[in-house]
Amino acid sequence: MGALRYAATTLGWSVELLAEWSDEEISHLLGLARDDFKKQEHESPDIMCRIKTQDNGKPLAIKTLLEAEQTGEWIGKADSLRAYHMYQWPIIDEVSADASKPHTEEPKLSAVRQSTALSPCTFTATQIIRQRRSAQQFDGKMEPMPQTDFYRMLASLLPTTAAFELWRWPPKIHLFIFIHRVEGLSPGIYALPRHNDALESLQAATQVDFDWQKVSETLPLYHLHSGDCKQTAKTLSCHQPIASDSAFSLAMVAEFGESINGAPWIYRHLFWECGLIGQTLYLEAEATGYRGTGIGCYYDDSVHELLGFKDEQFQSLYHFTVGKPLEDKRIETLPAYGHLSDVLLA
Ligand SMILES: Cc1cc2nc3c(=O)[nH]c(=O)nc-3n(C[C@H](O)[C@H](O)[C@H](O)COP(=O)(O)O)c2cc1C
Repeated sequence: MGALRYAATTLGWSVELLAEWSDEEISHLLGLARDDFKKQEHESPDIMCRIKTQDNGKPLAIKTLLEAEQTGEWIGKADSLRAYHMYQWPIIDEVSADASKPHTEEPKLSAVRQSTALSPCTFTATQIIRQRRSAQQFDGKMEPMPQTDFYRMLASLLPTTAAFELWRWPPKIHLFIFIHRVEGLSPGIYALPRHNDALESLQAATQVDFDWQKVSETLPLYHLHSGDCKQTAKTLSCHQPIASDSAFSLAMVAEFGESINGAPWIYRHLFWECGLIGQTLYLEAEATGYRGTGIGCYYDDSVHELLGFKDEQFQSLYHFTVGKPLEDKRIETLPAYGHLSDVLLA
């Protein structure tokens, strides 16, 4: 969703999430409801997006599109992905079934967006998008990241910025940041509630000795605890050094229990919101001369214990790390989409 929005924006287009649609409606329109998929290889619908090249007027009604599908005929048979499925992961199917989405009414887009602080980056958006990679190793001896760079990156993650213009719901993801190497900020744990309404409940749910001192005039950034947390961040992230050799790493924490109670498909929204934050960080890190890596491997129960969460009110759903990358010189790097350059750069 994030990648799509950035790409669309470079062309002056926009992306609309057709979030009202039910999974069943999407399945019918995309041919996923057919019965020719091999067992264990059925495909799950997630979201319909509409790319607007200009003001394209009202989208075709769902009903009209579904009627058109019914008068058509699906041709062909789904290819098999794999001869044998050795492992079964029934819990994945259970979660998927429980989080299936009915047709719903959804809030309209709210119009007001502030733009992010201007970046001094002189590369074009296309260059940044094409050079973006995940760092596999960071320079643990890096100079501290300038505070202005750190603050600009955090500011770009607030829900009022352009990156989140397609997001139709109140923000439910908040950041807990492990600062290792940032100029002028003592190493330790910090929090960035992305919505002021969440501040009190986050304070109440976390360790009593967290001090919640606001450290910036422009950002809702709070100091919680001072101390070297490199080893802790690394251990929590499945012992991956990318979480400790960076300038900072962070946990994206969702308002969880209340959000999914009665509307379990919101579980998927929460991940989408994390993905948007991750994509923004990936690109902002590149634009600032740093590099990011998404972290999906971490011990959530231990993260919760460290922060003080005792129930399902909050849940860590995705981690991220940003620093100075070390390149693996054994691997040759070719220009992104180089093989398509005649077509793409024409
Ligand atoms: C949701 C998500 C979770 C990830 N988790 C990890 C991780 O735990 N450790 C790691 O080294 N890389 C992780 N990555 C990075 C992926 O390995 C990387 O994005 C993928 O190999 C594609 O490479 P690229 O990002 O350079 O295009 C994650 C990426 C995403 C998007």
